[in-house]
Amino acid sequence: MTDEPGKRDALSDGKGLPRRRFLKTGIAGISGVLGIAYLGLIGRYLTPPAIGSDPLLPVGKTTEFSLDTPKLVVYKYGGIEQGVYVINTSDEGWIALDFHCTHLQCAVNWIPAIKKFACPCHGGVYDMKGHVLGGPPPRPLYRRIIRVQGNSVIVGGRLA
Ligand code: FES
Repeated sequence: MTDEPGKRDALSDGKGLPRRRFLKTGIAGISGVLGIAYLGLIGRYLTPPAIGSDPLLPVGKTTEFSLDTPKLVVYKYGGIEQGVYVINTSDEGWIALDFHCTHLQCAVNWIPAIKKFACPCHGGVYDMKGHVLGGPPPRPLYRRIIRVQGNSVIVGGRLA
């Protein structure tokens, strides 16, 4: 079997594309399509939602959130996992922060011991309200719509 011009592939019938080359081309094509689809999914995960794009969704009862303690809530929208930190602040009331770092969109983590958000990718640091304290992030964490109806906490799409 060979791809060299002029030589016959043992599996070829002598007409058209040799079988090996046909299989290689087919596998490369399928791999390319799957790769593009996978990159698209990663891209959607790594992109914060557009302003106001998500529907309002209940994410828990008010009693599940401690004062001044961010709690990550995760839900699926459009087949993509969304992460929002819900915080019942003592001075500003309820706020919701998107979990995407504003540098290159990694998921930030709340570190209770230092009471800050830290980004594992390049060392971005934010305070409890999402203001940048250090590292490369160019702007605060994105705020999300949040409402409290009765004892339900409801989160929606991104604010400006
Ligand atoms: S992605 Fe968070 S600091 Fe770079």
